[in-house]
Amino acid sequence: MRTRTRSRTRTRTGAAAALLALALLAGGCTAAGTGVRGTPGAAGLRDPYFPKLGNGGYDVRHYALSLAYDPRSGRLDGTTEITARAGQDLSAFNLDLAGLRVSRATVDGAPAAHNRAGNELTLRPREEIRDGAEFTVTVTYTGVPEPITDADGSVEGWLRTDDGAVAVGEPEGSMTWFPGNHHPADKAAYDITLTVPAGLEALSNGVRTERRTERDGRVTTVWHAAEPMASYLATVAIGRYETATETATGTATGTAADSATGSRSLPVLTAAEPSVAAGSAALRGEIPEILARQAGRFGPYPFSAAGAIVTEDGTLGYALETQTRPVFPAASFDRTTLVHELAHQWFGNSVTPATWRDLWLNEGFATYAEWLYSEEYEGVPARTHFARAFAQDANWAFPPAAPPAAENLFDPPVYQRGAMVLHKLRETVGDGTFDEILRGWPAKYRHVNASTADFTAYAESVAGKDLDGLWKVWLYGEGRPATP
Ligand code: ARG
Ligand code: ZN
Repeated sequence: MRTRTRSRTRTRTGAAAALLALALLAGGCTAAGTGVRGTPGAAGLRDPYFPKLGNGGYDVRHYALSLAYDPRSGRLDGTTEITARAGQDLSAFNLDLAGLRVSRATVDGAPAAHNRAGNELTLRPREEIRDGAEFTVTVTYTGVPEPITDADGSVEGWLRTDDGAVAVGEPEGSMTWFPGNHHPADKAAYDITLTVPAGLEALSNGVRTERRTERDGRVTTVWHAAEPMASYLATVAIGRYETATETATGTATGTAADSATGSRSLPVLTAAEPSVAAGSAALRGEIPEILARQAGRFGPYPFSAAGAIVTEDGTLGYALETQTRPVFPAASFDRTTLVHELAHQWFGNSVTPATWRDLWLNEGFATYAEWLYSEEYEGVPARTHFARAFAQDANWAFPPAAPPAAENLFDPPVYQRGAMVLHKLRETVGDGTFDEILRGWPAKYRHVNASTADFTAYAESVAGKDLDGLWKVWLYGEGRPATP
């Protein structure tokens, strides 16, 4: 449904024009007739580490990606359809896109002028978009996607493999394969349609809703990710994957249907490349149980699908918590990493950082989830994990919520010192209150964004007291305290 109002050009008498001019000066008038009132949306959201990431002036509601990939040439042909809502009167707005060639863009069906400067694609619709209006953008593009090398040397984006590709996007790699508002602050629902040569699997986030063979023999697979997703959590894996489907119970997602039945079953789809399929099968089979255990600690699993994708080593240098279906290079597919990436489904994917500075809310929680799992199921107290982390110099390089630069975003203090903050919180408020915070935090900020200040305020509200002393030393302090 389209609710956009278009401005109309009318002929006016001199008197009416003078009145309009007065009204314009007074402010609060409408754009009718002027065609010049809207302004361009901002080219970035001023993230502390990635100031140009994301764009201002609108909020994306839904992405429909249609991607055809030819593994032999590495060529991607894409159409991205975005449904968004304007947050201001817009004369133009940006999308983030790295590389690739844009052949056509439309806004509400009419061709829109487009031009590129760096990773900023600017679209100028024929008619301005009014504040509050919902509008549809389509961008058609093609090319061989180029991965991005991060400040820390890791590689992300659309990564080519021998027979396909794997796409991962933390923090900014998703702009290498589709244009969008690529800051975690703008979460949206996704439908991802992938067309690949026969014989290959094409995996993505969410639930597989359709598979069909095209007239030319290629196979199209459609994925539906219903719950809001930050674009860095979108994924694609194309190749000769072997898949397995299971059902998890006891992970109640908290939907209306769940509260009626008190439980529900969750489709768990895992995939692995042939050479690593047998070796990863047993651990893939543990996913339903791990999720049920985590749901017991963190509250209902937040999504309507789950799973994992295990790739051969050599493509991806790290595991990533891509929404509903984390991706692992085989070398990282161990129980601890699996527990970590599954915990991110609550911490990071459902509750998403407001800016990249708040990343410790992802990594500190996912690391603490490892400690909790080890405590509960392996008999190693969290206190032991804490003591180990406390003793390591590398964990004290900077406070967890203040990485000095983009190259430090994924450094040990964000993970280990982040987890230490949570352990000290637990010691300070006691296990009962801490459990309440562990469940309450992902419930309160389910499917939205949250900042470090939101977390400290929330923890204090549950604890019923000021925790300034704790934050001062453990969260914000420069360097290691004298005593653990
Ligand atoms: N979030 C991933 C994890 O939980 C790490 C991603 C690392 N990405 C990077 N660009 N360094 O382990
Ligand atoms: Zn992590």
